[in-house]
Amino acid sequence: MNVIELQNLTKDYGHGRGIFDVNINVEKGQVYGFLGPNGAGKSTAIRHIMGFSKPDKGSVRVYGYDSFKDYDKFFDKVGYIPGEIALPEGLTGTEFIKMMGDLRHSKDNPKVKELLDLFELDPRFETKRMSLGDKRKLAIIVAFMNDPELLVLDEPTSGLDPVMQEVFIDYIHKEKERGKTIFLSSHIFKEIEDTCDLISIIKDGKIITTFNGDKIKHSKNKSYKCKFTSPEDMQSFLGKMKKHPLYSRAQNKEFYISKVENKKNQVIVNIVDNNINALVQLLTEYKLIAFKQVEFTLEDYFMQFYIEDKHYGGAL
Ligand SMILES: Nc1ncnc2c1ncn2[C@@H]1O[C@H](COP(=O)(O)OP(=O)(O)OP(=O)(O)O)[C@@H](O)[C@H]1O
Ligand SMILES: [Mg+2]
Repeated sequence: MNVIELQNLTKDYGHGRGIFDVNINVEKGQVYGFLGPNGAGKSTAIRHIMGFSKPDKGSVRVYGYDSFKDYDKFFDKVGYIPGEIALPEGLTGTEFIKMMGDLRHSKDNPKVKELLDLFELDPRFETKRMSLGDKRKLAIIVAFMNDPELLVLDEPTSGLDPVMQEVFIDYIHKEKERGKTIFLSSHIFKEIEDTCDLISIIKDGKIITTFNGDKIKHSKNKSYKCKFTSPEDMQSFLGKMKKHPLYSRAQNKEFYISKVENKKNQVIVNIVDNNINALVQLLTEYKLIAFKQVEFTLEDYFMQFYIEDKHYGGAL
């Protein structure tokens, strides 16, 4: 049985907004990443997983239970961090933690101190006066403090500084080792890349691709940074690249331009290993300031689905 199972989940908010025929399966012990731009539908899908919203079509099952009808059957097993944190008025962090502990009948939980120390949060202040990062830390602590089997995390690190983001990533690794199942949405490529076994990219409410996290690490795609001496050289190279028989912007992305940085006279080209000679041949016509391989990242992969003409700096 999958821990989370979305089948043709559809929530139509009208005017093309919402999510449409979303299918996701998360197995026990998996870390599943959900990536997409603003408004893509991540939080909508997550609210359905948590049973807060009724699907228009399709089904959402968590531990085999209908998430909307039988939320109470799996509630105790889930830790949740909402995308937008709304804390109750007039409580200190300490009181809020206690209130959330009481809900789950847990008292003097040692994990609370451990988490407060790890994320360096002083919970004595009123939640209303807490900084954005501290509110996020409080939400993290509340989600993890009862040691739930399943974690559903909607942009868990937004608002955290880079040091705390690293602390969080380390913590996710440790939780994964302990067998936790984790569903995580994020805008931060590194966070997804570093932690996830499976990754889905959602765009305009539809999942456009699902792939194994290793695919990025062992990809045959390579990125090369080519820095030219003048804008004219760069534009000339872009023109030649576009006319090259291997150039394929829309299909297999085996010889294409992923980024144009006009101010730096710099282009990032993505190719598969086999096409390196063709690229080098094109470049021999120019004097280069730099030619360097850059790591092919999840961001590059993501951008393959988002390439728009604006990325080509008007050169094409
Ligand atoms: N309750 C609602 N009523 C109407 N439209 C909604 C509602 N909730 C979300 N939407 C719309 O559905 C789409 C998906 O929104 P959602 O919040 O799921 O995106 P998201 O991927 O979480 O974005 P972000 O990265 O900005 O958090 C958006 O177009 C949004 O305006
Ligand atoms: Mg969201």
